[in-house]
Parts: sequence; structure tokens; C-alpha cells
Amino acid sequence: MSTRRPLIAGNWKMNGLKADGLALATGVAQEIGKPGAVACEILVCPPATLIMAVADAVRGSALAVGGQDCHPKPTGAHTGDISAAMLKDAGASYVIVGHSERRTDHGETDALVQAKATAGHHAGLNVIVCIGETETERDAGSTLDVLARQIAGSVPQQARAADTVIAYEPVWAIGTGRTPTSAEIAAAHAHIRERLAARIGAQADAMRILYGGSVKASNAAEILRLAHVDGALVGGASLVAADFCAIARSCP
Ligand code: PGA
Repeated sequence: MSTRRPLIAGNWKMNGLKADGLALATGVAQEIGKPGAVACEILVCPPATLIMAVADAVRGSALAVGGQDCHPKPTGAHTGDISAAMLKDAGASYVIVGHSERRTDHGETDALVQAKATAGHHAGLNVIVCIGETETERDAGSTLDVLARQIAGSVPQQARAADTVIAYEPVWAIGTGRTPTSAEIAAAHAHIRERLAARIGAQADAMRILYGGSVKASNAAEILRLAHVDGALVGGASLVAADFCAIARSCP
């Protein structure tokens, strides 16, 4: 019997100005604050410009706030970048690292993603490390090899279940409305658990593994009840409070 508490995380990406971002976050906080509303942990990751305002607005509620990326260094001459300590100072308790859009748009390697994860840990943040295969890799039959390589390269050896979450996001499922079959998701997550054990030992048992990629209110229940699926990382559907809360209510 798993003791892993599911996590439903919303990744707003580059969406949200002050007024709509605050309305979205406070809407979610109110909904999940109703007695017995949700059993899982809930997180939103707004753009960096809104982290402080959102964190202030939802303080005292059950809603956690996170960043979408951080720099591997704590301070320095890195124009435009944001350190993990700055995210923490702004009110974040989580940071996403290695999202496929960062790996693609900014050429982030596994080694850089691991350095960012370590920076997050040093700042006292919970880190969500994203991994996932491209469509070409899946078609070539190399999904499990890609996941193994990304775990070995991106997850710090000192990662613990209490400070690290893995998000499995097939790149071809992100924002496309396409999802793997339940059997494919289950197979990927079981493999991730096994490769995590090889990387970090017994901590792997308690570490949460989220699924991400076109999670919606209509498919969340089916995905969230699969073995080794301990929550979801949600993009598009996290931008509408009612949809995001419906996904959170689908937690088993
Ligand atoms: P999506 O994005 O839910 O819009 O597919 C997921 C993600 O990129 O985290």
C-alpha cells in the first residue's frame, strides 16, 4: 500500500497577467479549501513575475506555489535569470526543472537539469524533475532507454522522496490532446520507479511520479488510478480554475 500523497501541479507556462493570475490562484485556493474538497496536495507554478503576488494572495490556504525554472548558481552575473533562493524568497516552495519546453527552447541538457535540481534543494525547495521521450524516440522503440538515461543524468543522487518529485511527460502528449494508453503510462511509470531505485536506492519507493501531457478533467480519473502514478503535472487545463479543481478532485 503506497503512502505517497498525490500531487496535482499546475504549470501555467508563459500565461497570466496580474489580474487573471490572481483570480485563477485565489479561485483554486477557495475551491480546494472547502472541507473535504480534495485529498491531494495542490500546487500552481505561475510565471516568475506573479509568484510573489500569488503566494501573498493564497498564504494560509492549502495551495502551494512554485517556479517553472531556476538557474543552477545561487547568485551572479546571469542577466535575466532567477535563482532558486529568489523563488523561495518570493514565496515558492517548489520549482520545476527540465521541462521539455526548456530542454528544447533553451537546449538544456541532463547535466544542467541536475545542477538546477541541486540548486533547488540547496535553497530548500521541493524539486519537480521532468523527463519524457519525443515522438521519434517512442516510434523508434527507445522510450524506456530515454527515460533511464534522463533519470541517471537529471536526478541528483542525493534526491529524497521528501524533496523531489519526478514528472513523466511524453513530449508528444504535451499540449496536443493526445495521451499514451493506460498500459503505456503504467509501463513507463513502473520503469521509472525501477530506474529511480538504481539511482537513489530505497528512497525511490516513496518518491512521487507524476504523469503530465494533456491531462484533463475527462481523463484524469483513469490516469490517476494507475499503479505508480502519484499525481499529475497539468498545463493547459490548469489555466481554468474549475478544470484544474476537477482534476484535483479526481485523485483517488
Ligand atoms: P499540457 O501541458 O497539460 O498542456 O499538455 C503539460 C505540461 O507541459 O506540463
